[in-house]
Amino acid sequence: MSQVHLGHVFHIAGSPLITEADAALVSIADGALVIDDAGVIAFCGERTALPAEYESATVLDHRPGFLLPGFVDTHIHFPQTYAGDSYGGGQLLEWLNLCIFPSESKFADPDFAQQAAVEFTRRRIAAGTTAAMVFGSAFPHAQDALFTETQKAGLRVVSGRGIQTAGGETAQPLMTSEEDAIRLTRDEIDKWHGADTGNPDTALLHVAIVPRFSLSVTTETLKNLGELYDSVRDRGVYVHSHLNENNRPGTGEVDSTKQAYQVNSYLDTYDGKFLPGSQVGGKSLLGRKTILAHCVHCQDVELERMAETGTSISHCPISQLFLGSGTMPWKRTVASGVNISAGTDFGGGDEWLIPRVLGDAFKQHITEDGAAGVSLHPAEMLFIGTLAGARALDMENRFGNFDIGKEADFVVIDPAGTPALDGRLANAVRAADPELARDQTLFGLLMGIRESSIAQVYVQGRLVTAD
Ligand code: GUN
Ligand code: ZN
Repeated sequence: MSQVHLGHVFHIAGSPLITEADAALVSIADGALVIDDAGVIAFCGERTALPAEYESATVLDHRPGFLLPGFVDTHIHFPQTYAGDSYGGGQLLEWLNLCIFPSESKFADPDFAQQAAVEFTRRRIAAGTTAAMVFGSAFPHAQDALFTETQKAGLRVVSGRGIQTAGGETAQPLMTSEEDAIRLTRDEIDKWHGADTGNPDTALLHVAIVPRFSLSVTTETLKNLGELYDSVRDRGVYVHSHLNENNRPGTGEVDSTKQAYQVNSYLDTYDGKFLPGSQVGGKSLLGRKTILAHCVHCQDVELERMAETGTSISHCPISQLFLGSGTMPWKRTVASGVNISAGTDFGGGDEWLIPRVLGDAFKQHITEDGAAGVSLHPAEMLFIGTLAGARALDMENRFGNFDIGKEADFVVIDPAGTPALDGRLANAVRAADPELARDQTLFGLLMGIRESSIAQVYVQGRLVTAD
């Protein structure tokens, strides 16, 4: 039996670029979303225009609530489930060594990892994160727990064990030999990629190859991962890592990487050009199924190369604030044509909720210096938190908006769950111009959503519940 969901619909229709998000914004105040038996969107439009064939369908009336596409978090760390707000580490490299590596090492205990997988999944449901690129644990039993719990809940996930073959003392428990790095990654692909349906094109579960970052691996690992990726690309396997996050002069991540590899750009290390002078040493890890987190301090050539290869950025402004990593230049990054999606980077960021990422993106980019400063359009905010995330995961054909024929991933927002949002929406002053009034409402919604506002979460038309 089809389901009819009633509420104020917002989504970004079609397949626009970020610069076209404004024109693609759909707002239907008295809207209806029809989901067929297969969990696919059959109708999205005015309630009053509901086709007669759905008159006898089950109606779920969420008014005066809102219906938004499910949030897509393109960068979040499973083994940092309990490490949000880690204090005492300072910026990135010290924070990793002092706080994060010891914290992630606790996942060596299978019971602890299992408990964390349950908690991680609960937090995702509470945040309405229907799809995510999840930076995984080094430990295969922890990844098994993550995939199992995600499958039980009915959420989407792309994840892979974090690969480390180099590092200091606190990284030792997370490191493996060169051989094991490849073997364990290949085993994970064989075990979990497309495992729920047997076909990656219809699956909710997917696997990524995840070198932690260039400083955590060797040139040999990068070469071997390039070979591995080349052999599994046609199976739709993903790649995920970090890029250009911390640029503290001399000792930060960007300079340390360039010094260690003697390359012209950090991106070269992921692009097969990891030998001194950026000479080619192996195969590229870039492509339409590759997401690189942060990209705060990219050179133009790096942005161009990402755009050219279809590699996406996961923009993580909360993490940038928390770790003092700076500000991704919004206008320059957009102008490069690279796809920009949104990531919490939990626990580098201290929020699970994609709308909080969108709110901090707004605040960060309006604060950029001079002509670089920009007031993000609420449609751009919604775009990076939904459709651009689906695009980053190369699954835009399946979800990300309410186009007919897409799998029905959506969240029901009930402002009554969050009195501050409810009061604001009910009493806000709105412009006389209907388009501006629409934008103001969407902005107010995205800025004001909290976990308490997320009443229901659906993936493929199925209600997702914790346990
Ligand atoms: N770079 C390498 N590892 C990490 C991590 O865990 N978090 C962040 N934010 N950056 C990283
Ligand atoms: Zn991260």
